[in-house]
Amino acid sequence: MREVAPPSGGAGCGPGSLVVSRSAQDLDSVLARVATVSRSGVNTRSPRYLGYLPSGGLYTSAVGDFLGSVLNPYSALESISPGAVAVERAVVEWLLHVVGLPMDGAGVLTSGGSLATLTAVVAARERAGVPSRDLARYSVYVGEHRHHSVDRALRFAGLSDCPVRVVPSDASYRMDVGLLHRAVRADRAAGLVPWLVVPTAGTTSSGTVDPLADTVEVGRSHDMWVHVDAAYGGLFALADAARPCLAGLGDADSVVVDPHKSLFLPYGTGALLVRDPATLTSVFAHSADYLPDDTGSVSPADLGMELTRPFRALGLWLPLQLAGADAFAAALTEKLELAAHMHEFFAGHPAFEAGPRPDLTVVTFRAVGRHGDAEALNRRLADALQRSSEVFLSPTRLDGRVTLRAAIGSIRTHRADVDDACQAIARLADELAQD
Ligand SMILES: Cc1ncc(COP(=O)(O)O)c(C=O)c1O
Repeated sequence: MREVAPPSGGAGCGPGSLVVSRSAQDLDSVLARVATVSRSGVNTRSPRYLGYLPSGGLYTSAVGDFLGSVLNPYSALESISPGAVAVERAVVEWLLHVVGLPMDGAGVLTSGGSLATLTAVVAARERAGVPSRDLARYSVYVGEHRHHSVDRALRFAGLSDCPVRVVPSDASYRMDVGLLHRAVRADRAAGLVPWLVVPTAGTTSSGTVDPLADTVEVGRSHDMWVHVDAAYGGLFALADAARPCLAGLGDADSVVVDPHKSLFLPYGTGALLVRDPATLTSVFAHSADYLPDDTGSVSPADLGMELTRPFRALGLWLPLQLAGADAFAAALTEKLELAAHMHEFFAGHPAFEAGPRPDLTVVTFRAVGRHGDAEALNRRLADALQRSSEVFLSPTRLDGRVTLRAAIGSIRTHRADVDDACQAIARLADELAQD
């Protein structure tokens, strides 16, 4: 899965050189160098790329992005590009519907989950009226297995001095809502103001979904903003099989989803969805002498941080229209079934111990080894799986132990790829266990 060394970005003008040329270069030689870029590092387009959270990158979405760039509308403002804004509204309405938020909610497409999360944290901070001089009294609650983009968002939003309570997980790696409630009550009794709780729908390490409905209930009963990081898991609500574990998602105040994860898009499209549009417009809407007066309509620029931005909506709308939303539901259902199949393989294999049955499409497991240091064996296996030409996995740490995780999410990953990956992993583990 790892390809040849990257081309040189340094001095020189050889065939692999990326040095910017003062004179025009011919197309063939330039494209040859682009090809060397695409052949370096990890092949994230492969069906056996099971690291991090794959998507594969739909070509129809790339065509949408290409058309969007060629048309180059000013997608920030309705008064300048009403057609582009209408396309974005159509996809945002569809996303609101999928996650179960009210249709009079709002949303904005972003570069990805990190920017969407930051946008949500800023909106929540403003709604709660968190005073910059008294941050130490305003407490935040996050799960043990949250994505680090939540911590980064708190820092970027100037909230590092807020007490952040890390709520431990249960044995299945889900946020323990009993402990969450206890922490909130203890803080209130101590005079703190709990204002934000962030459950995750599909954690990066284990793919598990926190108990969303129960978390929302705790949040509501203490007048906290509930933000769900559903970057990976939220759009699995399209698949019947995943809907029960996502119950409560649509009751949140805000939800982040990443079409560049679970809708198989090329990297570059996330979305923030909110229950109450005013929570975004009150923070982000601004006028300026040099901008057209957009009064009366809400444009993407009123809902988030970006002004000039790519016409992302087309890269989402085009594949949805060409394949139909049902095809996406079917593809996600297939990935859920593949994850269950892989989990069965490791649960039934004597050389492995499998993690909990996956909620979504991340399968966790460890090699058990017949003798010696199991931790060292898993570390070596994890290293080998990052260098293998057959399959790519990225490891994590669960319960303090190196844990292997296979994330099945590429549009190109099918049953034969998963079977091949299982065999390749078992073979590597066997070889390493002999050493
Ligand atoms: C659960 C979760 N939330 C948020 C993010 C951040 O998303 P992005 O990489 O699109 O900024 C990720 C990224 O992998 C993630 O797995």
